[in-house]
Amino acid sequence: MSPRSKQPSRLSLARLDTPIQRLERLASGLGLKADLYFKRDDMTGVALSGNKVRKLEFLLAQALEIKAPAVVTCGGIQSNHCRATAVAAANLGLGCTVVLRGEDPGPNALGNLLLDQLVGARIRWVTAEEYRERRGEIMLEEARRWTQDGIEGYVIPEGGSNALGSLGYVQCAHEIAAWSEETKTDFDVVGVAVGSGGTLAGLAAGWAKYNVKGELWGFPVCDNNAYFEGECGRILTDMEGYVPEASEAKIRLIDAYKGIGYAKSTIAEERFLQKVARLSGLILDPAYTCKAFLGFCEEINSGRWGENPRALFVHTGGLYGTLSRSWTIHEAP
Ligand SMILES: Cc1ncc(COP(=O)(O)O)c(C=O)c1O
Repeated sequence: MSPRSKQPSRLSLARLDTPIQRLERLASGLGLKADLYFKRDDMTGVALSGNKVRKLEFLLAQALEIKAPAVVTCGGIQSNHCRATAVAAANLGLGCTVVLRGEDPGPNALGNLLLDQLVGARIRWVTAEEYRERRGEIMLEEARRWTQDGIEGYVIPEGGSNALGSLGYVQCAHEIAAWSEETKTDFDVVGVAVGSGGTLAGLAAGWAKYNVKGELWGFPVCDNNAYFEGECGRILTDMEGYVPEASEAKIRLIDAYKGIGYAKSTIAEERFLQKVARLSGLILDPAYTCKAFLGFCEEINSGRWGENPRALFVHTGGLYGTLSRSWTIHEAP
């Protein structure tokens, strides 16, 4: 088999296809000048939910293939990716260590961290500096600690964002293309949050492979456009062995909506999250989807994509991050 036609194995972990829903009341309540739709990737599952599940279908298939006794990954204290990995590992009977940036809150764990603990993941706490400088090394160290029959734990990079994991979002692009074809509904613009780049890179490769209509735009919640052009470019180059069209993929980014820092919310963002919840029952998360959807709405109303575009937002999940803190409710019911 030529390396260009290599088809990696895949597990079935996510509830697919996720629905695409039209949200007229939300659009009018927000004063949005668009025909708005959501791709509900927050509905890939329950404890095992959000965008990371699509990536884990490929990554964990490889871990099982090499008979790894465990998986090791990393992220922030409220990492959705770490939680999804820990839950999936428990589901498959694999061990799991999550390398978390932050301090152990002792018995006060909430949200994603609480789920990490409930499913029995080992947690290695590291400082922000250790995380920045040595997370790769630390993950390898943890992987070695799981060694069984000479096989170490399988290391998954931050966010599951490598070429293999990002294939999960080529599949998502296929679902969007198939839905458009079936309903004769093309989008003018599609928006998604960007945290480590794999979701956007996978979608962009899928856009090229399936000729999906409409411009795809990513909204970084950390770092900046230049950083993610580099990251997504690197992932796309590595993906060419699986998806040759990845070489033609286009990465478009708007980094103006990161706000006051990673996973920190302004009052305006808190109000926006609450308004969306009240108008639609859809729960955004403070670190990713709130910032990205707010940016998407502002750019739509600025006319960047013309008058009244048909707009799709990919809701990538993050509910447990929303449940990891207390909230001031800004408007009385
Ligand atoms: C809820 C949510 N949305 C979006 C993202 C961004 O995805 P990616 O890391 O693939 O850029 C993440 C993870 O980083 C996430 O947890």
